[in-house]
This record gives sequence, C-alpha cells and structure tokens, in this order.
Amino acid sequence: MNLKTYLAETKSLIEDFLKMYFRQTGEPEVLFDAMRYSLFAGGKRIRPILCLTAYETCGGVGTDILPQACALELIHTYSLIHDDLPAMDNDDLRRGKPTNHKVYGDAMAILAGDGLLTESFRMFTTVAGDSGITKNILPAIKELASSAGLYGMVAGQALDIISEGKTPDKTTLEFIHKNKTAALLKTSVRLGGILYGAQKPEMSALSDYGEAIGLAFQVVDDILDVTGTTEELGKPQGSDDSKDKMTYPAMYGIERSKEIARELITRGLESAEFFKGKAMWLKEIANYLLKRTN
Ligand code: IPE
Ligand code: IPE
Ligand code: MG
Ligand code: MG
Ligand code: MG
Repeated sequence: MNLKTYLAETKSLIEDFLKMYFRQTGEPEVLFDAMRYSLFAGGKRIRPILCLTAYETCGGVGTDILPQACALELIHTYSLIHDDLPAMDNDDLRRGKPTNHKVYGDAMAILAGDGLLTESFRMFTTVAGDSGITKNILPAIKELASSAGLYGMVAGQALDIISEGKTPDKTTLEFIHKNKTAALLKTSVRLGGILYGAQKPEMSALSDYGEAIGLAFQVVDDILDVTGTTEELGKPQGSDDSKDKMTYPAMYGIERSKEIARELITRGLESAEFFKGKAMWLKEIANYLLKRTN
C-alpha cells in the first residue's frame, strides 16, 4: 500500500465514524447544522490519522480507538471556527468554503465551536466493546484537556493574538507555535501510545516525533500562507501578512523557514526510527507533512 491509499483508507474510517456519530440532528437544528457544516467541509483529518497510526505502531488495532481519535478532529474543527472569527483572524474562507460565521453569524459560530469542543470530551469516553483501553481513558483525557486548553492551544492562540504587529522574537514565536498547533498534534500522537498502554521508551519516541512534526506543521502552514494559493489552500493566502502575525517567515524569511521545517522533519524521522520496521507510516506521514501544499 502506498501513502496516498493509506491516508485515504484511514480518512474514510474517520469520516464514517463522524457521520455515524452526527447522523441525528438535535435542537436547535441550526446549531447542529453549523457544527456539521465545518466538520464535514473536508479537512485532511491529520490529527485522528496520527493518533490511529501511533496506536497501530504500538501494536493496537486502530478501529478500537476511533471515538478518541475523532474527538481530536472535533477539537481541531472548533479551533478553526473560532480562529476565523472577526475578533480573531477575521478570515472568510476555510476548507474551500465560506467560514462558519459568514454562513451562520458570529453567535452561532461561537456556539458551534463550544458545542464541538464539549462534545469531543463526551465522544472521547465512548469505549467500544472490550478493547482494553478503558483503564487508559483517564490519563488520556487529562493530557487532551491540557494540550487543547490552558497549557497548549488556547495559550498559544492568546499569545498569537496579542503578538500581532510586534517585532518577532524567537522566544515568543516558539511559544506561539509550540502551543497553538504543535501541542494538539503532539498529543494526537501521544494518545495513540497512552491508549495502548505503551511503556516509557515507546512514549518517549512518540513524544519526540510528535513535538518535531507538530512544530514543523505550523512552520509549513506559515510558509504556505506566503507561497501557496487561496484555491489550493482553501483559505485566504496572505492572511498572516495582512494581520502582521508573528510567523516563521516574518522572523527568518522563507528560505530559512523551509530549512527549519526540513530539520524538524528529520528530527521526527529519527525519533520514529525507534519503532524500526513498524515506523513506516509515521515516517511517511512526516515526509508528507513537509511536502504538503494544503
Ligand atoms: C490548519 O490545520 C490550522 C493549523 C493548525 C495550522 P490543518 O492544516 O490541519 O487544517 P484542515 O483540518 O486540513 O482543514
Ligand atoms: C491557527 O493558526 C492554529 C489554530 C489553533 C487554529 P493559523 O491562524 O495560522 O491557522 P490558519 O492558517 O488560519 O489555518
Ligand atoms: Mg490564527
Ligand atoms: Mg488563522
Ligand atoms: Mg496559518
């Protein structure tokens, strides 16, 4: 199997679970419509894919942790809806469609985000049959709440906003990127290990891999904001520049940023080596994250 097929097959498991989970609407219908609008607008699903891949790399069967992997996508989608709001990045296009608030209004977009975030924790507690992950749910939830919240994404988003228009500095830039983006990606990888009940050496390899590719992911996102096209990205090219965001290209220029991304991916590949013959998909995904165009 090649990477394209692997990603497509894993993605289809994720799509099927999400569709099944949200098959019924609730009240008020517009809230559920707003959540589904963004959730099914067509993201790469990279966080659940990383979680399932890490779990399988440790020796598990991915379908046992679909609710936990998909919960990551709910959190990610909420973060995008809120990130695009006029009070934050004020963007009009996301995943190739008008942003949530453009269609449903600011209030419903905020609530759709709140709904996705809260529901993610309910989804996370769904345990299929006797997969043996029950005992690992508690530490897994604790990690998820930390990295999606005050000790991760929310903190990074806050510093991202208050750093607009400021002269980039290395420490601030690193804090923003490690928290707003790398934290949830690292946790996506680590959750695979935590849910499997992996031992310390495995967890340490997964952590190093997740940290490296997580930071690389946002460096590449910053680069694509400069070098990509709106059509390909499905979100407005040049958004960072227009808000004078603190980004890697703003701090280091495009060429050095590309080099940093490459170095980080190399670090990720080296960390994955720990799993020897079983490291293939983690390594292929790392290479793909460097070369991606959207
Ligand atoms: C975009 O994430 C936001 C960042 C954290 C950089 P993705 O690039 O994973 O977006 P989707 O889910 O594929 O739309
Ligand atoms: C957002 O970073 C990270 C999130 C937590 C959503 P960006 O603001 O650069 O993400 P995009 O470029 O809008 O997807
Ligand atoms: Mg932002
Ligand atoms: Mg943004
Ligand atoms: Mg961006």
